[in-house]
Amino acid sequence: MTMEFTDRVTRVEPSATLAISALATELEAEGTDVVDLSVGEPDFPTPENIVEAGKAALDAGHTGYTTSAGILELREAIAEKLEEDGLEHTAGEIIVTPGAKQALYEIIQALVQDGDEVVLLDPAWVSYEAMVKMAGGELTRVDLSPHDFQLEPALEDLGTAITDETELLVVNSPSNPTGAVYSDAALEGVRDLAVEHDVTVISDEIYKEITYGVEQTSLGTLEGMAERTVTVNGFSKAYSMTGWRLGYFAASEDLIDQAGKLHSHSVSSAVNFVQHAGIEALENTDEAVEEMTEAFEKRRDLVVDLLADHDVDVAVPDGAFYMMLPVADDDQAWCEGAIEDAHVATVPGSAFGTPGYARISYAASEERLHEGIERLAEEEYI
Ligand SMILES: Cc1ncc(COP(=O)(O)O)c(C=O)c1O
Repeated sequence: MTMEFTDRVTRVEPSATLAISALATELEAEGTDVVDLSVGEPDFPTPENIVEAGKAALDAGHTGYTTSAGILELREAIAEKLEEDGLEHTAGEIIVTPGAKQALYEIIQALVQDGDEVVLLDPAWVSYEAMVKMAGGELTRVDLSPHDFQLEPALEDLGTAITDETELLVVNSPSNPTGAVYSDAALEGVRDLAVEHDVTVISDEIYKEITYGVEQTSLGTLEGMAERTVTVNGFSKAYSMTGWRLGYFAASEDLIDQAGKLHSHSVSSAVNFVQHAGIEALENTDEAVEEMTEAFEKRRDLVVDLLADHDVDVAVPDGAFYMMLPVADDDQAWCEGAIEDAHVATVPGSAFGTPGYARISYAASEERLHEGIERLAEEEYI
């Protein structure tokens, strides 16, 4: 039998990162030591108090379904956290999801349909493109790479990209894959365009807690943005909880009502005991988050210095745990070569819409970062 697949799935490409991870797995199976700088997750264990809260919730029997939007206590804790960031949302304007990825999927499914225009800032996290395509949307991409990945100098280009036809803009600051934190002036520019053309904006703030010496302003705090911003966040990065799968979004009640239907008819809810651990994460983990962020900052400085020793200049990131390394025009071939010859895994920039770069994740120990950069230099990849 030949199965007929939908346009919705066949128009999406498999992730360009797959070729690299397949090569890495093959080499590791042969016993090769690969320095993996391709990972999108913190290398720290989940803080102990959160693990204990998860175990206690299991012991207390929190193993059944919860309200689809998430337990009230967690949504109230999220509302409080958002208030500290200057965002006013009631618990009723929040949906708790199994990971921020599910939040983004539900929002895009609720807002984008065939032919709708969606604007992305390149390089952009890989799944935005796939999610928009699955929803039938058309992409317009604004390239930030000529501007050291900053948004402010690209506002004119954004002004050309956004028209009255635009349905949605996605902003991700701090950014994956660049680590850029957009300035307040840049966000005000976004606001002016969004208001002028009546555009909804997703503000993906999953790296908000991981910044170095700067603060990320939440887009929804800007005048005129509260009603048109959907704020997405999650526990994976700040609390090193990738495998727990916990995220959320906050939006106006009408979007919550519509996306809530998708949520209840697909995942039902996030995992019950994980939601209880999420409350502990939000309420009692500031110190651990600070320590992890300090470690990331030290590693960022180390990688920037090591690259500078080899005369490689990078746009120094102010947040997240990634940076973009300028490489050969054929970045896919460069990344494949780097893993085959130097045994260092990175992600090609073309996976994020920006060829000519490789994304380095510095969520690795200082020793491994040293090793990785030295190997790239020895094999003349930098
Ligand atoms: C920019 C961005 N948004 C959302 C996510 C989704 O994170 P999760 O589903 O683990 O919460 C990621 C994960 O890599 C990300 O980098």
